[in-house]
Amino acid sequence: MFISFEGLDGCGKTTQINLLAEKLASLAYDVVFIREPGGTVISERIRDILLDTKHQGMNQITELLLFSAARAQLVNEVIKPALAESKMVLCDRYVDSTTAYQGYGRGLRLGAVKTINAVATLGVMPQLTFIIDLPLEELERRKKRSGANADRMELSGRAFYEQVRQGYLEMAAAEPERFTVINGAQEISETHDRIWAVLSQHLPRQ
Ligand SMILES: Nc1ncnc2c1ncn2[C@@H]1O[C@H](COP(=O)(O)OP(=O)(O)OP(=O)(O)O)[C@@H](O)[C@H]1O
Ligand SMILES: [Mg+2]
Repeated sequence: MFISFEGLDGCGKTTQINLLAEKLASLAYDVVFIREPGGTVISERIRDILLDTKHQGMNQITELLLFSAARAQLVNEVIKPALAESKMVLCDRYVDSTTAYQGYGRGLRLGAVKTINAVATLGVMPQLTFIIDLPLEELERRKKRSGANADRMELSGRAFYEQVRQGYLEMAAAEPERFTVINGAQEISETHDRIWAVLSQHLPRQ
């Protein structure tokens, strides 16, 4: 089973995936955990290019194609083989990030983004996608508290992030069978419980 997690930077994706991976492992599920961009040697090298703050001059189409190139490698090398072995694949971002960030955020034509997404994924799509949603103000408060340095994508500004957030919500509304929007402003344990309540109804039998 293939599950992806989406949402703005710092919304709590990694926190929730770690909790979920632990829970699934405790129930004897074979879990594969992947973060995007990355997850293979080639994809991690592309990740470094994408997130390097020195690369301010990166063209938006270059950005779109690099994210997609990293994903194509990941699908072929890791995701497809894991699904063929009936593993639980948990992906920290996947193709919906490209629609949200490069499509809605950067304003690239959604039709073109969709075509490139289809090429990069070979049509391999998650059964369930959780969008962890919360207001930008709360995200900014958390970011300040953590004191982490911003990467190149995170230097994109507030208007960009508002568009990305609205993009995610539109995508969820258009495809409600796959997407679940989770309120990320709750406590970590409450968010986890909410995710579990949805996922546990879809789990394959052990
Ligand atoms: N529900 C929550 N309430 C308060 N703080 C939280 C919550 N969930 C996560 N955090 C904190 O917010 C920060 C970002 O969380 P996390 O790294 O899981 O986000 P992320 O979505 O994976 O971010 P990125 O996109 O940058 O990888 C961490 O310091 C984490 O402990
Ligand atoms: Mg993360």
